[in-house]
Amino acid sequence: MKKIAVFTSGGDAPGMNACIRAVVRTALYHGIEVVGIVRGYKGMIEGSFTPLNSQSVSNIIQRGGTMLKSARCDEFRSKEWRQIAYDKVIDAGIEGMVAIGGNGTFTGADIFLKEFDIPTIGCPGTIDNDLYGTDYTIGFDTAVNTALDAIDKIRDTADSHDRVFFVEVMGRDAGYIAIQSGIGGGAELVMVPENPDSFEGVIETLRYGRENKKSSAIVVVAEGEELGNANVIAGKAKEALPHMDIRVTNLGHIQRGGAPTALDRILASRMGMAAVEALLQGRKSEMIGVINDEIVHTPFDDAIHKKKPLNKELIKMVNILSI
Ligand code: F6P
Repeated sequence: MKKIAVFTSGGDAPGMNACIRAVVRTALYHGIEVVGIVRGYKGMIEGSFTPLNSQSVSNIIQRGGTMLKSARCDEFRSKEWRQIAYDKVIDAGIEGMVAIGGNGTFTGADIFLKEFDIPTIGCPGTIDNDLYGTDYTIGFDTAVNTALDAIDKIRDTADSHDRVFFVEVMGRDAGYIAIQSGIGGGAELVMVPENPDSFEGVIETLRYGRENKKSSAIVVVAEGEELGNANVIAGKAKEALPHMDIRVTNLGHIQRGGAPTALDRILASRMGMAAVEALLQGRKSEMIGVINDEIVHTPFDDAIHKKKPLNKELIKMVNILSI
């Protein structure tokens, strides 16, 4: 293999830059040329390729976002546009690819690979941590720490004003950010899609807390929560508990930005290096993961379709520790 491409796609995640750096430097170490595809699949269709050398990836390990930019690309769902992308890839002499992203990124890579057989290895870059085949995804730890920092601040004001706060965090259909930031922030309740909640249970928890001299409370709500978003749940809580002062904070995209934590930089570096090594070993159509501190390879098909279970013990723990 003489030339590979690297790209980031889907929602950005802190640590993507560290991963790009690792891919570029590992490839150069093995005498392989690298090009970056700008804006993921969109850039592939447009032929937006930029040569990357060692200096191109200097001074980025500590930066959030992605130097290669990212995009969600609807065109790539159609065969016609994938054919155009393939022609551009071949014209550029690209023989293998490292795709950094989440579920949608690997779904695209899997289809592309089945159609055109360009060896592709994925690195899981998403704050959601929702990919099967890895304990953690790149960006998750940073996002949890960002959410935690915000929850700590909300706790200060909640406590001063004897208020209840419903704090909505990201995670798409998964509750990993919610559960971890909720435990770390000492939340009274964490609502995640993996665990059915009842509205009566929410009211009961808040009432119980107040009766037991808790003057404030934090409820962390995962954006995928089945009872509705934080605004909806808080609205109903206000009706049921009119004597409580209830507020809502949606943390939103701040969870996607910021300097990656040490854990994310190291995870991203390990995964980027392992991805290039996997291509050199002739592997394709696999996602790199780290399980029990070991690099593992999981077929795209499993990474995309198998559900990574959320540890229910953690939910039980929130209930016990918040009494
Ligand atoms: O997948 C990362 C993520 O931030 C999810 O947590 C969230 O549901 C989604 O992306 C938001 O996407 P966008 O930035 O396109 O609105």
